[in-house]
Amino acid sequence: MAKVTIVGAGQTGATTAHWLTERQLADIVLVDILEGLPQGKALDLAEAMPVIGSDAKVYGTNDYADTAGSDIVIVTAGLPRKPGMSRDDLLAANSKIVRESVEKALAVSPDTIFIILTNPLDVMSFLAMKVSGLPRERVIGQAGILDSARMRAFVALELGVSVENVHCYVLGGHGDDLVPLTRHSNVAGIPLEKILPKAGLDAIVERTRKGGGEIVGLLKTGSAFYAPSAALAQMAEAILLDRHLIVPASAYLNGEYGQSGIFFGVPVQLGRAGLEKIIEYELDETEQEALEESANHVREVIETLNL
Ligand code: 2OP
Repeated sequence: MAKVTIVGAGQTGATTAHWLTERQLADIVLVDILEGLPQGKALDLAEAMPVIGSDAKVYGTNDYADTAGSDIVIVTAGLPRKPGMSRDDLLAANSKIVRESVEKALAVSPDTIFIILTNPLDVMSFLAMKVSGLPRERVIGQAGILDSARMRAFVALELGVSVENVHCYVLGGHGDDLVPLTRHSNVAGIPLEKILPKAGLDAIVERTRKGGGEIVGLLKTGSAFYAPSAALAQMAEAILLDRHLIVPASAYLNGEYGQSGIFFGVPVQLGRAGLEKIIEYELDETEQEALEESANHVREVIETLNL
């Protein structure tokens, strides 16, 4: 069986383990600095396997030696937002955590592919690539599936149709200036702009932009974890099964969408080698401008890393 390490045994890390063990695609190692937390959650999850009928093994540890030989390392470790905070407010604390996690994991899994979730997501993905020295194919950030899923859920609720019929594409940095591409989004092939009144669509776009904050405001002590972890599991599956799946994710850009030197949410194709390809949509002027604004924001924060 393949091996997937999840760094961080908090809500997101443990729930990612949950989704992945159900799919029976890999043995899972949960690693965390807190003693007992990864061991306890892994044991509890291992004890659930007979009930759900999965032979995936789950192991919790504080020692990176146990993560050796991982095909994929998913980094979820870090502080979540509290109400009123922006994702960028987490930069200082989470940079240190992501740097250490990547260095320690790579030392024992030199062939691994990293999927980064820790916020501020695009900046932490950039940091992970620089710290690891890996090519962009092997460091990918997750936010686009999550942001698009939020929009899909809101559209499905509004129209009373199955979520499976709703296709939405949200690009850009994972912040409140993310860019929902309404022109490219559709319900069973019918463009969203034709099926929803402008005011309804505008409200969905706005709610999608603030989707993470809406959950933080409700939970008060943490941020979303079900949808973010489901998105991580989908990416890991696409890589392990070499599916060539196209999903929005944060990737290092080399001129695509007119941007270079930043991680940014774009449609990517995922397979066993990691990032196989970046898909470029034809954008109109308004969409291009919105992406540029979002890219400038990500670039400003990346510059503060001084790497
Ligand atoms: C979110 O959007 C945690 O950034 C994550 O919910």
